[in-house]
This record gives sequence, C-alpha cells and structure tokens, in this order.
Amino acid sequence: MSSTTIETPNYPIFITPSAGEELDRYLQQKNYTSVFVLMDENIMEHCWPALQNDSEILKEAEVLVIDAGEEQKDLEVALQLWETLTEYEADRKSLLVNIGGGVISDLGGFVAATYKRGIDYINIPTSLLAIIDASIGGKTAINLKNLKNQVGLFVEPNAIFIQTSFLQTLPPRQWLSGWAEMLKHAIVYDKGFWNEIKNIKDLNLENLEPHLRRAIEIKKEIVEIDFKEENLRKALNFGHTLGHAIESYSLENDRDFLLHGEAVAMGMLYASALSVKKGLLSQEDNLEIYEVLMRFFKPYKLSDDFISRLESLLNQDKKKDATGFNFTFVSAIGQTEIDQYCTLEFIIESIRLFK
Ligand code: GLY
Repeated sequence: MSSTTIETPNYPIFITPSAGEELDRYLQQKNYTSVFVLMDENIMEHCWPALQNDSEILKEAEVLVIDAGEEQKDLEVALQLWETLTEYEADRKSLLVNIGGGVISDLGGFVAATYKRGIDYINIPTSLLAIIDASIGGKTAINLKNLKNQVGLFVEPNAIFIQTSFLQTLPPRQWLSGWAEMLKHAIVYDKGFWNEIKNIKDLNLENLEPHLRRAIEIKKEIVEIDFKEENLRKALNFGHTLGHAIESYSLENDRDFLLHGEAVAMGMLYASALSVKKGLLSQEDNLEIYEVLMRFFKPYKLSDDFISRLESLLNQDKKKDATGFNFTFVSAIGQTEIDQYCTLEFIIESIRLFK
C-alpha cells in the first residue's frame, strides 16, 4: 500500500507502509524536547522491532511497557506512568507515542492529556478496532473498578500513523472484534459502504485493506460534526447499550470472555431487533444485518441469570440518564435514530422473544 493522508481539522492521519519512517519525517518539523513510547508486552514483541528499525527517533525514545489487557486502564497504572514521566523529567514539550490497541490509546491519551495539564500525544494503532475507531476522535479514559471509561477527557491526538501490515499479527478474534465496529460504521452512516463490505467472507488484510480508508473517514466525519457526543456521535453507540451489558457480564462470568467487538456484535443484533419492535426498521433490513453478523459471530446465550442482572448491568452504562435506558436504533441501513429510550420491561420482553 502506498502512503496516503486523511486530513482532519486538527491533525493528520497517515496510512503508510512504514509508520516509523513517516513518524521521523513528521517529527523533524516539530520541536519536542523528548519522546516517550507507551506499549504493552505483545506490541513490544510483534510491532516494536519493525518500528524501531524504521525510526531513528524511536530508537532514542524512552520506552514504557505495561502488561496487556483491559485491567491496565486503571488509576494505579496511570499513576505509575505519571511517576515514570516525572522521573525521566518529561516537560510540557515532551511527546507520548501510544503504540497498540484501544487500551493503549485510551490510557496513553489520558495520561498525556493530564500530565502537566497536557502534553502532545500520537497514536500508532495496531489492531483493526483501534485503526478504524478507538485511535480516532480523542476519547481518552481509564476505568473505575468495573465502570468502563468512567474517568477521562476528550483530547485529540496530534497525529495518527497507521501501518496496515501490523494487522497481520492479529489473532482471529481480534479481527472479529474490529470487524464488528467496521460493520457498525456502515450500518449507522453509509449504506453504500455496507453494500461494499457486506459480502466479505474472510477477514484478512487482502480483503479489508481496500475498505479501511472509508471506515476511518466515517469515524472522522462523525467526530468532526459532533466531537463531544451530543448528537450525531451517539450513532456510534449502536449496539453498545446491550453490548456493554453483555461485555461486563461475560467478563465477570466466562473464562473465555467476549472481546469488546464480539459483545457489540451481539448488542447490534438486539438493537436491530428492538428497532423493528419500535416500528423504526423494516424486517428486510433487520434480516440483512442479522445474516451478515451471523456469518461471523457465534450467538451468545443471554441466560436467565443475565436477564435477572440486566438492570444493574444497564445502570452502569454512561448512556443511562434520568429518562431511562438510552439506545441508538436504526431506521434503515445507513440511518440512525439516536436517543431512543426503552423501559427495562420492553428490553427484557424483546430479549425473551428473540431467544
Ligand atoms: N468509539 C465510539 C466513539 O469514539 O464515539
């Protein structure tokens, strides 16, 4: 793939065969006093050698490595990172480069945005989910116990560098997790894009690479219109109200728990069925969404235990407000209806019917 750039109003997104070389070119025009790199142990093994090999600046950078996993989006880890930056005398003109998936860009963005009232940060996303979604749009956060993204800020990165060859290191379930969000971008915003990707059968670089640019543009366009998620950005929450409940339940109860996108895929199945029940979506579009999702995702059984705990699981969600449980529904593929409120009874009845 040759280099290409997607411009956002505030920063560039480079899609490049060598993120290291591109980063060096970009940083030559900047004046940072020091460069810090944040990654987890998996990225250290799979992506860091190539990046370091291609970048003189990264060879000299201070490297901060954390364990892999969602548990790292935690105040204790943020504290250690603030302390390490302080030990290494990072000043306000220092730069943090986050290399990895959504956990790293959320955590690293949060640490950068708060250290000395904010230093610049760059994302080098390495998972499909981070490339098309998490790294774009300035949502930074840590979790508070089991409350996901409870503490955070909207602060955009200064640049994003995407080297698609890193996707080749992804395990199959990580492909699936990102794929769910890519399908979601199409379902909520762009029927033409849906038609382009809906017949894809195998998730690999060859099949997905031609579609990454549009998936990124959709996220960028939505964020440009509504950075603080007051209206249109809520479209990206399609599948996330029940998806987050399913994800939390699975994390607590399953040894082999669902990844974020896998839970969102289940959430989208239900959100789509609820859209029909609300009289918004045609059965035809619902069936089309169902068939595409079912081609990839194993159904996750919503047990009686899940249903009995649904209220408390939904109460944890940031989308809950005084009016009730807030859903994003669809009125057609490519068109969303945000701020749709449902009662617990309506949700449970629909889940039981669906089962
Ligand atoms: N991942 C959804 C958003 O950035 O709004």
